[in-house]
Amino acid sequence: MATETPVATVTTAEDLQAQLALAGQDGQKIGFVPTMGGLHAGHSSLMKASVAACDFTVVSIYVNPLQFSPSEDLATYPRDFVADSALCVAQGVDLVFHPSVEEMQKALPRTPVPVSEVAGLWEGANRPDHFAGVATVVAALFSLVGPCQAFFGEKDFQQLAVVQQLVRDLNLPVSVVGCPTWRETDGLALSSRNVYLTATQRDQAPVLYQALKVGADLITNGATNRLKVEAAMTEVLKTADALIVDYCAVVDPQSLQPVEDFEADARLLVAGCFGATRLLDNRAVQEGERYGSC
Ligand code: PAJ
Repeated sequence: MATETPVATVTTAEDLQAQLALAGQDGQKIGFVPTMGGLHAGHSSLMKASVAACDFTVVSIYVNPLQFSPSEDLATYPRDFVADSALCVAQGVDLVFHPSVEEMQKALPRTPVPVSEVAGLWEGANRPDHFAGVATVVAALFSLVGPCQAFFGEKDFQQLAVVQQLVRDLNLPVSVVGCPTWRETDGLALSSRNVYLTATQRDQAPVLYQALKVGADLITNGATNRLKVEAAMTEVLKTADALIVDYCAVVDPQSLQPVEDFEADARLLVAGCFGATRLLDNRAVQEGERYGSC
């Protein structure tokens, strides 16, 4: 019976750098996909983009305690290294970095990593230390891996903006590539946290995408009043009685500030909780949908 070759995996910074030195000797261009595991087709799409654009792709799998608040799901966050490795093999990933918390702590900078004002909005308003935690671990991972290109999902649009600003501000020698959001066929954005949803919550969860679509259609059809667009989106969100809406906004795609006079480049953001499960989604006004397995 044929067995799949496991993906090469390292758990220490030392072993990671030894493997990268070998790749570097051959002048290979390193691509990097940071993840927290619980991998799905959205993550696969980032790996595929990296494998297509680079010679050697590194995926990190590390559930980063710094970006969870005490009330969040750090202990129960999905961890299935066997399934995650299989997905990395299927995408042609060259190396997985899977450090323990103790190992990663040794690599974290002692100097606080700055986050721009973008980090204080939306997700940051609800989760004050979240983006500082993301920025700290991403900076440490960039420094360990030294990629030419790093691939992030637009699914976490604000995170992408925070990382892009970090790279610009510190002049880090890496190009950050934003990749489109992958969805279930009913529009629900793929997320590691979707496994927490009860059957009723899962039935109602596509409402986030439906609200985004209603907002985008209004703008496409000429709406220019942000409050009216947000009100229409809120009406859609209200149809899901299991959802507690957190925010619903039409924003500038760079500053993420609410836009008064917007044109077709506005970004629509929504977030809310089904019980303890927090879901977020976003879309551009004009956006092609990507469904199913990558
Ligand atoms: P995680 O939630 O595992 O996501 C890893 C990457 O996958 C992120 O760039 C995220 O935006 C992307 N992603 C998630 N769902 C997606 C989807 N449906 N379509 C496309 N891309 C998707 O984001 C994190 O981990 C962490 O904050 C991390 C950056 C690893 C730092 O700890």
